[in-house]
Amino acid sequence: MATVTGTLTVNAAFLQEIKDDNVQLNQLLGDLRNISSAAPVLCNHATQFVALLGELRDQLAFHFALEEAYGYFEDAIDIAPRLVDRANQLRAQHSTLFETICELSDAAACLAAAPSFQSIISLGATFSEFDEQLRQHEAEENQLILEAFGQDIGVGD
Ligand SMILES: [Fe+2]
Repeated sequence: MATVTGTLTVNAAFLQEIKDDNVQLNQLLGDLRNISSAAPVLCNHATQFVALLGELRDQLAFHFALEEAYGYFEDAIDIAPRLVDRANQLRAQHSTLFETICELSDAAACLAAAPSFQSIISLGATFSEFDEQLRQHEAEENQLILEAFGQDIGVGD
């Protein structure tokens, strides 16, 4: 069922998928942040950390595919052409972010058999850098959508 508001069309099924995906993604990121928050915790949960990185890779594949397949920017762009460049830049970040999580997950899988203290700590630091990039990406997407919706309903200038 679609709800039409002005020039924006919101697909209810899409929103439910996005919601479910976000719950899963936030759960994974939360678990990974908790485990990597302190070196002793990380070293004691190295196997779980490696498994969660693989799950995060798979969830992000779904997350990015969902955003791109349903193209929830598209409606926003229809009503806010000045945001096209930012939307394209953000969409292009998906492949870079996905390459990074694949490399991270692969590196973790290689270490899984015989992880050293140093390698696990290094992996935790790399995850934190990736996590920050992903947070920034998501924040910019949210900002873009808010601006587009704000323009559609006449909020701001
Ligand atoms: Fe995205």
